Amino acid sequence: MVSKWLKGLVGLPVMGALGVGGFLVVTAPARQDASVWAGLGEPDLTHGREVFFAGGCTSCHTPAGSAGDARLILSGGAPIHSPFGTFHAPNISSSQTAGIGGWTLAEFGDAMTRGVGRRGEHLYPSFPYGSYARMSAKDVNDLFGFIKTLPASEAVAPAHELPFPFNIRLSLGGWKFLYFTDEPRVALTDASDMVRRGQYLVEGPGHCGECHTPRDMLGGFRSGQWLAGGPNPEGEGTIPNITPGSKSIGSWSEADIASYLETGFTPEFDSVGGTMVEVQKNMAELPASDREAIAAYLKAIPAVQ
Ligand code: HEC
Ligand code: HEC
Repeated sequence: MVSKWLKGLVGLPVMGALGVGGFLVVTAPARQDASVWAGLGEPDLTHGREVFFAGGCTSCHTPAGSAGDARLILSGGAPIHSPFGTFHAPNISSSQTAGIGGWTLAEFGDAMTRGVGRRGEHLYPSFPYGSYARMSAKDVNDLFGFIKTLPASEAVAPAHELPFPFNIRLSLGGWKFLYFTDEPRVALTDASDMVRRGQYLVEGPGHCGECHTPRDMLGGFRSGQWLAGGPNPEGEGTIPNITPGSKSIGSWSEADIASYLETGFTPEFDSVGGTMVEVQKNMAELPASDREAIAAYLKAIPAVQ
């Protein structure tokens, strides 16, 4: 399912360049300042539900093929295969013991926006925190509040199956050092509020680039290729270009794009396929204005052929 790769576990080369001691200092897991998560007040659960679907949490954190209400039981996901081994998305249900019901907002927020786990460890970027890093503290608070209203599950996901050196979490500091950023992915001048909203959704919670942007040998996004598509990192087929330069959606109107996200049908009445099926189901849960904002942003970004 979903963004099934984790590229660029490049800790060892970086370690070589910096020396082990310097590497560990420079790349130590960095939490946000605690003030980021303070004083946010009661979460808005209705909005938290929208953030939940914008973020696609259910696509990875529920067993394969979950439908209907089962998409709300975050008991752990289907195996995520990657060139580095197999990941098992953990239980993030409201269970106090097996899930994240006992976590603080700061612990949850640091996982989401900095890839730092509860025990201060680096998390693997197969959890797309490299995108979620752009989420506002308010949205993280609303999302956490919503997740805590979902059913608890006591299931325990299997451990990841990763060969050495990918099983060493410390090496992830190198990946973060090279690639982690919460800056905008594209510079948009004079963008309307609607386009800015689309930018937030696509580059942040929607994590569209995790599938639609081609990667270099070390797993970083190729510069100048934002959302330009490329070979499917899972092996089969390609992921389409969704910039205005696309042979396919380049000719779609904003309304066509918004309608595809809502219904799963292209203007030619083909239906959505592959890993986009889950994404589209989530997009259908958003307010129409958010799908329109995403469409406006996809028309505003640089065209790549
Ligand atoms: C593309 C798949 C994918 C998506 C989408 C995804 N996750 Fe995860 N998530 C993972 C994987 C894999 C891990 C395990 C990372 C690790 O072990 O370092 C994880 C770990 C986590 C953790 C840390 C749990 C722990 O016990 O340490 C939290 C919290 C989390 N995800 C929350 C979310 C939320 C909330 C969303 C939706 C906004 C979400 N995830 C979307 C794959 C995903
Ligand atoms: C898990 C990987 C994944 C993610 C995340 C993802 N997509 Fe896709 N997307 C795909 C795949 C695969 C296709 C091709 C679908 C098909 O073959 O029917 C696709 C197709 C599309 C298309 C239609 C393109 C065409 O030429 O037919 C649009 C538009 C699109 N995605 C937008 C988005 C947006 C917006 C987001 C973020 C909210 C997003 N995608 C996130 C994998 C993904």
